[in-house]
Amino acid sequence: MKIALGTVQFGLPYGIANRGGQTPRDAAAEILAGARAAGATLLDTAIAYGEAETVLGEIGAARSGWRIITKLPGLPADLPAAEIGHWCRTTVEGSLRRLGADHLEGLLLHRPDDLRGPHGPALAEALIHLRDRGLTAATGISIYGPEDLDALLPEGPARAPIPLDIVQSPANVLDRRLESSGWAARLSQGGTRLHLRSAFLQGLLLMPLSDLPTHLSHAAPDLRRWQDWLAATGSDPLAAALRFALSRDYAECAVLGMDSPDHLKQILAAAQTDGPLPPDDLHSTNATLLDPRRWNR
Ligand SMILES: NC(=O)c1ccc[n+]([C@@H]2O[C@H](COP(=O)([O-])OP(=O)(O)OC[C@H]3O[C@@H](n4cnc5c(N)ncnc54)[C@H](OP(=O)(O)O)[C@@H]3O)[C@@H](O)[C@H]2O)c1
Repeated sequence: MKIALGTVQFGLPYGIANRGGQTPRDAAAEILAGARAAGATLLDTAIAYGEAETVLGEIGAARSGWRIITKLPGLPADLPAAEIGHWCRTTVEGSLRRLGADHLEGLLLHRPDDLRGPHGPALAEALIHLRDRGLTAATGISIYGPEDLDALLPEGPARAPIPLDIVQSPANVLDRRLESSGWAARLSQGGTRLHLRSAFLQGLLLMPLSDLPTHLSHAAPDLRRWQDWLAATGSDPLAAALRFALSRDYAECAVLGMDSPDHLKQILAAAQTDGPLPPDDLHSTNATLLDPRRWNR
C-alpha cells in the first residue's frame, strides 16, 4: 500500500478546503482504523502539528501497529551549541511519550536549514546519535521545494550532513519540481525513501473554481487548465490527483491529508479506479501557488 496518512488535521484546524476545523478524536480514530484495514501502515506527524501527537497517543496508533514518522521543529534561537544533543534527545523523548511509542519509524527535520547554520554539525551529530540508540529507525528532512535540496546538498546526496533515509517533499499534478530538478531520480537512486505530500494541494485541486478564495485568484489560470483536462478526459479530480501521486515509481508513498472518514472512503474508492494520467504539460510555474506558505490573505 503506497498510501501513508498525514495528521496535521488531527492536531490543528488546518487547510484551505477544510470547513470543519480540527478533526474530532473519534473521527481521527475512525480514519486510522479504516486506513489500517485498507493496508496502510505509515503515519506522518510533527511536533508542530498542535495536538496531533497527543491525539495519536490517545487513540492508540502505536499500539495498533502504525509506524510513525514525526518531525523535529527548528532549533530554538538561543540554544547554546553544548545543549543541542540534550535538547534533541528530550524533545524526541517528549514525542515518544505523547505518542505512546518506544521508537519512531522516522525522525525528519522540519527546518533542514538548521543543518547549514552554525549549529549544523552539533544537530547532525545529535540526530545520528538518536538513530544509533534506536530511538528512530530512520532520519531525514521535510522540504518545501527542490531549492532546499540544492542549498543543503551542493555536493550531492552522498555528502549529506545526516543520513538521508527519508525525504518528504510536495509533489502533485501541478508541482513537478522534484522530478524536473532531477532530485527525484538522484535521491531514489541513492537509496533515499521519498515520501510525497500535497497530492491535493491542500484540497485546492479538488475545489470548483467558483470556491477559489480571492487571495488565490492568481492560481485560476493553472487550475482552469487542470479542470479543462479533467472535463476533456471525463476524469474525477480526486481520482486523477491520486493516480498521479500513486504512480510515481521513485516514491515509497504518498502522504495524504484527510479531514474526515468520508474523505478516506473517497480516497480508497478512487484508488481502485483506472483512468488517464495527468500529462506533464499541466505543471505550473507559479511559485506562489506551489508553496502554501506564500498563500497570505
Ligand atoms: N473529497 C474531498 O474534498 C477531499 C478528500 C481528501 C482530502 N481533501 C482535502 O485535502 C487536504 C489535504 O491535502 P493534501 O493531502 O494535498 O495535503 P496538503 O495539505 O497539501 O499538504 C500537507 C502538508 O503540506 C505542508 N503545507 C501545506 N500547507 C502549508 C502551509 N500553508 N504552510 C506551510 N506548510 C504547508 C504541511 O507540511 P508542514 O506543515 O509539515 O510543513 C502539511 O502538513 C485535506 O485537508 C482536505 O481538506 C479533500
